Amino acid sequence: MNYTIKHDKATNIHYVTVSVKDHTVTFVDFGARIQEWIIPDKQGKKENILLSPDTPQEILTDTAQFGALVGPVAGRIKNGIWNHKQFEKNNGNHHLHGGSNGWWHQFWLFDVEVVEESITVHFMLKDTLTDYPGPIYVKNSYKVTSDSIEMTTSVHSDSHTIVNPTNHIYFNLNGQAKKDITNHMLQIHSDKYLETDHESIPTGKLLEVDNSGYDFRKPRLLSHALKELSHGLDDAFLLQDNQPQIILSEPSNGRNISISSDRQAVVIFSTTGFEMNQSVSGKKMCSELGIAIETQELPDIVNHPNLGNIDLEKQQIKTWKTTYAFSVI
Ligand code: GLA
Repeated sequence: MNYTIKHDKATNIHYVTVSVKDHTVTFVDFGARIQEWIIPDKQGKKENILLSPDTPQEILTDTAQFGALVGPVAGRIKNGIWNHKQFEKNNGNHHLHGGSNGWWHQFWLFDVEVVEESITVHFMLKDTLTDYPGPIYVKNSYKVTSDSIEMTTSVHSDSHTIVNPTNHIYFNLNGQAKKDITNHMLQIHSDKYLETDHESIPTGKLLEVDNSGYDFRKPRLLSHALKELSHGLDDAFLLQDNQPQIILSEPSNGRNISISSDRQAVVIFSTTGFEMNQSVSGKKMCSELGIAIETQELPDIVNHPNLGNIDLEKQQIKTWKTTYAFSVI
């Protein structure tokens, strides 16, 4: 069990690399990211299972939130309006992922804590750069145990505001993104998904997954699922309580990721059609090279109060937890 800290002078980015037992995780302070996660396969071969911007410069210019903590509010807010306040429209007519100065695009303070058999990296931010009422104070901690990363996010604010953070981690269990993700199996314990319109804005209607392409209650091969869902997946699923709710695996190399969360929903983004001039894990980002699994409250919930709320009252504290556990089967 050990950790190292590396500093890149040109960008001022810090890399914190933590090794516990069989796995190694690297975090980055710009965006409070999980930058890289190296785990074994069933032959014991250790490889990175995330899409990771290859250079510090590409972390600074990243607009796809690779491994980053997205906030204050993940997903779209229709017309960018909440409580008569106009937020930045950075996605057509809408506000997306907290805007261009979202939490994923800010430097966080950090410290490292070693306790018994685990190492925790705490990231702290006082957000004054987004145009949300605040300031909002965030602490996002990643506890690396022998077989998992436990992410705990805690927020409070000096003003009444809204908060719905997520980690925008993209997986590719093949390792080093050597193939696309269509050979992965995905299972989601969810009976309902959120309908969206042609601009990916939720209509507020929860639809049954039964008899639809959105039924992932039993593990499904992504190549089959993505044939049925011809535009790919960029959708929110309502999560059941029984954990783990999301299981991603690559049967031939045995890598398995189980995700347990106390969040209401998960957005699954299959990156279908997502071509970018950015290199991740040594590859040019392209369609279906990764799958983003973003636990959160339902997107655009501010416009559908019957589905819940993401209000943070002045001095209220909210805390959420999502655990990513790996195994080899
Ligand atoms: C979310 C959005 C996508 C895309 C990605 C990456 O999943 O719904 O449309 O913006 O994030 O930013």
